[in-house]
Amino acid sequence: LDEEERKITVIAHPNIALIKYWGKASETEMIPLNDSISLTIDLFNAKTTLTAKRIDDGEGVDDTVSVNGTNLALSTRFNRVFNSVRDRLGVQWSFTVTSSTNFPVAAGLASSAAGFAAIAFALGKAFDLPDEDIERWARYGSGSASRSVLSGLVQWKKGDRNTESHVVSHFPSSHWPDLRLIILVAKEEEKAVSSKEGMERTARTSALLQDRIRRNSERIQGIINSFAAHDFPTMAELIMRDSNEMHAVCLDSYPPIQYLNSTSWSIINLVHSFNSESVRAAYTFDAGPNACIFILNEHVEEFQTLVSSTFSNGEFVDKKNMFVSTLGQGPR
Ligand code: PMV
Repeated sequence: LDEEERKITVIAHPNIALIKYWGKASETEMIPLNDSISLTIDLFNAKTTLTAKRIDDGEGVDDTVSVNGTNLALSTRFNRVFNSVRDRLGVQWSFTVTSSTNFPVAAGLASSAAGFAAIAFALGKAFDLPDEDIERWARYGSGSASRSVLSGLVQWKKGDRNTESHVVSHFPSSHWPDLRLIILVAKEEEKAVSSKEGMERTARTSALLQDRIRRNSERIQGIINSFAAHDFPTMAELIMRDSNEMHAVCLDSYPPIQYLNSTSWSIINLVHSFNSESVRAAYTFDAGPNACIFILNEHVEEFQTLVSSTFSNGEFVDKKNMFVSTLGQGPR
């Protein structure tokens, strides 16, 4: 570690959870109340260049982060990541991060997961540190980001302590080559409650949350088994039920939190009518109104046509606001 400067460029993909993380056991250590499991989205990525500069004792650290050309005011999360890296290295460095995403950050497409996974991966590789450090720093930035540091079907095992919370990949993305994700960007009418604030309110005020947590390990196992067997209908039902439950505990919070809008509800109804004969699509929603649809390649065209013709206001006509992706890899 005697060089004065290190520079590295990496890319990482956002992920979408099939069984979602909602609620923290510890905010400082970012320990979740339940396990979650996800896949990464190949089409979208954050490209991040990290420059690390050695600083002398007594010289103040000067970290900067810019995303899509805008300098960010460094929140607690960024400081926690950078300070943890400095503690780990034992010598002082300042970090400059320049990040760009190939998808609209404001569309609420889990940009923080891709962004923090990229920063953590860049830091780990720049200093040749092990994967445990990378996933911990990603988690410190944004819990869900820890699932973007691996590829394939990735489970974040909650653990009870900082050192126990970790991610594992059960299958590579190549295990199910026909699986597609369609992201439908539904216009947000007003700013959503942040996931941090939403989780805190749910954990504090929702009695239903405990019920959701009780079912968690069975659901996770159901996803692993159905993904292993390419059993789409079973996996699809688990995905939709879990998303519905996450939004139900949000509504059960006090005051209630509403992330789905009328477009989201139209998509939910449309998927159930598309599935009336056999289950061919599954929706899931994060802390916002955008839908992510799991679907096999052979049904993508029919589904897109149905979406375009259903929304008469032109929201999704000509594949506008509709993005089709294969499953992505981990960072590189
Ligand atoms: O990682 P955060 O703090 O942005 O929380 C993300 C939570 C959900 O996206 C709603 C669910 C999940 O598991 O990704």
